[in-house]
Amino acid sequence: MTPDELKLAVAKAAVDYVVPKLESDSIIGIGTGSTANYFIDLLAEHKGKFEGAVSSSKASTERLEKHGIPVYGLNGVEVLGFYIDGADESNHKLQLIKGGGGALTREKIVAACSEVFVCIADESKWVETLGKFPLPVEVIPMARAYVQTEIKRLGGKPVYRHGFVTDNGNEILDVHDLDIQNAIELEKQLNQITGVVTNGLFAARPADILFLGTQKGVEVKKA
Ligand code: A5P
Repeated sequence: MTPDELKLAVAKAAVDYVVPKLESDSIIGIGTGSTANYFIDLLAEHKGKFEGAVSSSKASTERLEKHGIPVYGLNGVEVLGFYIDGADESNHKLQLIKGGGGALTREKIVAACSEVFVCIADESKWVETLGKFPLPVEVIPMARAYVQTEIKRLGGKPVYRHGFVTDNGNEILDVHDLDIQNAIELEKQLNQITGVVTNGLFAARPADILFLGTQKGVEVKKA
């Protein structure tokens, strides 16, 4: 199977898992990226079985609305039963690196609010130790140089993502050369640097369930 076929397979597995649990007034959290896009397209076939979605990016909002799925602001939503999103890396604790598409901050907010975080990913994302994929860090533009210096102190090599502006009007540093043994601690340390909006480690709030697309079929992983 190609990577795209694997992404489609896990998106379908997530739809089969989530949709039967939805009620007519359910609002679903939706992530960002190519795997999440497959999920959105399949979810659209079930319009009417749920009320709508909260989205983690402008791109996903646009895609949901094209399908006629209502998108709500998070502040008006009382219960978010499920959040479905892809990842750039996952370890066996379902701690993730996210933000390859730059939507990490809104993704982390929606994940934090959701009761069940369903991650969908192809097998290339499954790793023993997080950190081979450069860790995205969203920064306030005026703090970029300072944050770079502080990240170097922690042993990382921050690379400015030139020409990229997040949905929140900020910049991204992609941090290379990290060997992340304690993801919860590093997530905290990075967030404590003044000027960091958030970082792409999803360890304090990992996924609850991962549908992993492999050549042998979709594997279900739980932390
Ligand atoms: C978006 O900012 C990311 O967190 C994505 O969820 C992640 O990059 C996975 O994207 P793909 O599904 O395109 O691999």
